[in-house]
Order: sequence, then C-alpha cells, then structure tokens
Amino acid sequence: MEFHKVSDYHPPKFASSLAFAPSKRVRLAALPTPLHKWNLPGIPDDLHLYIKRDDLTGNILSGNKVRKLEFLLADALEKGCRSVITCGSFNSNCCRATAVAATQLGLDCHLLLRSKNMTLSVKDTKQHTKDPGNLLPSIFCGSQLYFVPFDSDFELDVREREERLAKCIEQSTGKPAYRMPIGGTDSTGVFGYIEAWNELMSQEGFNKIHDIFVATGTGGTLIGLCIGNYLTGQKIKLHGISVSFDKDYYHDHANVILQELNVTERRSEDLVDIIDDYIGGGYRKSPLDDHYFLQEVASSTGIFCDPVYTGKALIGMLAEMKTNPSRFQGKNVMFIDTGGTLGLYDGRMQTCLNGTFNKLAHTWEDKSGDPQPIN
Ligand SMILES: Cc1ncc(COP(=O)(O)O)c(C=O)c1O
Repeated sequence: MEFHKVSDYHPPKFASSLAFAPSKRVRLAALPTPLHKWNLPGIPDDLHLYIKRDDLTGNILSGNKVRKLEFLLADALEKGCRSVITCGSFNSNCCRATAVAATQLGLDCHLLLRSKNMTLSVKDTKQHTKDPGNLLPSIFCGSQLYFVPFDSDFELDVREREERLAKCIEQSTGKPAYRMPIGGTDSTGVFGYIEAWNELMSQEGFNKIHDIFVATGTGGTLIGLCIGNYLTGQKIKLHGISVSFDKDYYHDHANVILQELNVTERRSEDLVDIIDDYIGGGYRKSPLDDHYFLQEVASSTGIFCDPVYTGKALIGMLAEMKTNPSRFQGKNVMFIDTGGTLGLYDGRMQTCLNGTFNKLAHTWEDKSGDPQPIN
C-alpha cells in the first residue's frame, strides 16, 4: 500500500461478522511496529515482559493515533472534506497527530484545545510556546487553534462549538469539514487496532502472550484490541490502565461501539479488565516521583515513556505485578507502548532534568586540562 494514497480496505477475515467496516484506508503509519522482549528492571523473576513498539509508527507523526487516523482521514477524503476538526487537551497527542497527518494529506486542520489560560494576550503567547510539547508540530503544520475553557465538557459544549465551526468552514470553503471524535474513538477509528491485532497475529512471540497492558483514555485502542481478541478466540487477558476516566465511562462507551459493530453476545465488562486505580491526581497530573521513574526506565532500557499515558500505564502494570499477581492470566506479559513521547517536552520534566544535568555535566574549557564537574 502506497503512503498517502487512499485505497480500498478489506477487513481481516476474522472481522467479517462485524456490522460495519470502513471502505477506505490511507497509509500513514510505518508498519509493522516491532514486538520484542523488554528487560525492564523490577519485573518479578517469574514474569517475562514483551513490548509492542507503537511509539515507532513514525517520528513526529507517531503513537497509537496514527493507526486510527488511517481510517478516519480516509473517510474524510472519501466524503469530499478539505478540512478536519477535532478536540483534545491543550497538549493532546491526538490533536498533534491529526495536525501532522492532515497536512501530509493536504487537509486543513482545526483544533479545539482545552486550556487553563483563556486571556491569550500577546504577552501570554510566550507562556504557551515556551515548552510546547505537542503544540509545536500543530503550530508548524499551520493548524488553526481554538482555546476553549479547561472545564468544558467534550460531549456537550465542545461538540456545540465544533458544529458551529463546521458550518463556518463549509460556508467559507464550499466543502464539508470532517468532525473527528475525541481521541479518534468511534466505530471507524477502532479499525486501527482491529488491524493492529491482525498485525500482531503474524508476529513472532505473540502466540506466547498471556496478558496485554495498554494505557486507556477514550478507549478506541483497547476496544479494537478487544474485538480482535474476541473474534479470533485468542483469549489473551486484556488490561487497560485508565489515565483519565473510570471503569464505568470506559465500559459505557465501549458497549455502544460493540453494539454498533454487532458484537452483541458479550459485554465489554466480560472482555477487558479496566484498572482505574492509577489515575492519581487526575488526567495529565503526574507527581515528581513518576518523572524520576520515567528517567530510570529510559536510562536502563533506552525506552522513553511519557508522563500522561504510557508512564502511568507502566507504573500501574508494575504495581499490579507486585501486589496483585492473581490478576495475571500467565507469565508472558506484553506492554503496548502507545507513544506520546512529545509529552516529555511540555516543561514538566524540568525539576528532574535539572538535578540530573548537574550530576552529568562537565565543563572543559582548556584542552590541556581535565574536565571539571559543574556545581
Ligand atoms: C500516547 C497515548 N497512549 C494512549 C492513549 C489512549 O488511547 P485511547 O484514547 O485510544 O484509549 C492516548 C490517547 O490520547 C495517547 O495519546
């Protein structure tokens, strides 16, 4: 399949009983992503950890959202849209990925971002652009940014704004605007991870896996995996570590999508184990201890987890391994690295970074002298 070209999509055989499948797909992600062993310190001796590297679906356009965008943006192009609208938090990975993918496909991108700072005078601009994280790619790609109050409800008032914006865009361009759901989670987007399941089934080592862990936000990633697991009869135990919403939110949304797709014999509650004990202070809130832990993971294995998603999921998985081994179905556990690395660059790692920098950095002004540690 050629990059950036919209092609006909035929779902895997196991998905043929689903009520719906997208008719088109556009290749955006670098696939297949590797699946390999992960020698992470601190894993109990009798467990074997594997990692699926969905952080490697691309570079700036990377992470789990790219898989969903292959179906959502193909749908947008099929519907004759020339622009896409989506929403998320101020530093959303999904918004960043949408901005980059839209640009690659020649679509205009409009992002509604929940922000604590609504004054936005030119002076405040510095505040937003100092540690931009995911915002940098969205700005470089020329996306229009609309800051909405931080506590806006996505289902209610953000949706209303999106409708209004879609009307304005249609009036001014003469073309419809594609409204993408938050997190790319709907019955089209979940095909990203139904296809990922298909990819996993052909990868060496996957047949040994007993348990899978993944960070869960809007749920589309896990719902796709859950459908793949169920329809192929693999019976792997799927655990979603929630980073924002509680169990009930996940299952309510998942059950709607399962119904839409005609997976009616089983409820989401029977198919996945949602663990909502590691949300901590809330979505996007991460304590300093987590930052030091992520640094340790990077320095011991060379793999970078982000503080909002993969870091929380990893911390939750390790805690469950130690305190709740009966939750696991077997000894071979796979962690899906869903990406989000740009979250490390939003300024929050400053304290942790400064301390370590001071231990590592030397000055070496005079070439005939020795390097001197900084103090
Ligand atoms: C890096 C990362 N991991 C995991 C998730 C959760 O994916 P989902 O919303 O499909 O549950 C997200 C969602 O934004 C994400 O950005």
